Amino acid sequence: MTRMFSLDGRVAMVTGASRGLGRAMALALAGCGAHVVVNGRNAEGIAATHAAILAAGGAATAMAFDTTDIAAADAAVERIEAELGHLDILVNNAGYGNGRSGSETTNEEWDEIINVDLNACFRLARKASVGMIRRGWGRIINISSVNAHIAREANASYCAAKAGLEGMTRALAVEWGPKGVTVNAIAPGYMMTPDNMATALRVDPVQRERFAQRTALGRWGQGDELDGAVVYLAGNASAYCTGHVLVVDGGMTVKI
Ligand SMILES: NC(=O)c1ccc[n+]([C@@H]2O[C@H](COP(=O)([O-])OP(=O)(O)OC[C@H]3O[C@@H](n4cnc5c(N)ncnc54)[C@H](OP(=O)(O)O)[C@@H]3O)[C@@H](O)[C@H]2O)c1
Repeated sequence: MTRMFSLDGRVAMVTGASRGLGRAMALALAGCGAHVVVNGRNAEGIAATHAAILAAGGAATAMAFDTTDIAAADAAVERIEAELGHLDILVNNAGYGNGRSGSETTNEEWDEIINVDLNACFRLARKASVGMIRRGWGRIINISSVNAHIAREANASYCAAKAGLEGMTRALAVEWGPKGVTVNAIAPGYMMTPDNMATALRVDPVQRERFAQRTALGRWGQGDELDGAVVYLAGNASAYCTGHVLVVDGGMTVKI
């Protein structure tokens, strides 16, 4: 049974793994046997995640690049294929919102969020899929958000990008399914990661409680509470699951 969740022999890349959810998922995938390529823009942050994986007995490679830099992202996938032999699992996690109201969002701000949360994920998936399709096995996991389904104020570009990411997930799943590549998404709720776009909500006691009470479980998620979902979607346990959005939100989107 545990073999179902083994990632022995697999190579995974997690974008945005220098901190937060990406770091936790990188450690979880490595803990199940994958060699994890740890990405982020900040070399110090990814070095810390890389060191944590090695300290836990796992295997990892640090690769700093900006996912919106098309040439750098393509080069990273080519380097993984050349140096590690194959890229089997891509976790498109790097992303953020800017908390700007729709009225105030400039064209440049809109484009930046769509670029990082949607365009960069498509380009990396397209590039990574080449080797996956050639080998007949691959897993692409896009990190969406409950904001693809439900909105809060000052978030239009982020909601649009994440909803687009889920549409893309379904379309690529249909296209690449016959070739052995599954494409799924995880839609987290509000998670306690150290410093991200939700920090302002989390440190304000009124907002913190408001968001906790919006969930069925009555609390925010912990930073490592996507680990089970990503390990499931990365391995053989999810072989018949594709085009799916796995919502991990403590029941926020099912509560009236
Ligand atoms: N935390 C939540 O409550 C929550 C809820 C729903 C969805 N999500 C989604 O989950 C993902 C991770 O969120 P998080 O809370 O862990 O965020 P976070 O703590 O802000 O971490 C974001 C990560 O992405 C990296 N990053 C940002 N832009 C990048 C780029 N262009 N190229 C490469 N790396 C980049 C950052 O590293 P560098 O600064 O070193 O580049 C960092 O490692 C995001 O897609 C977010 O939308 C989070």
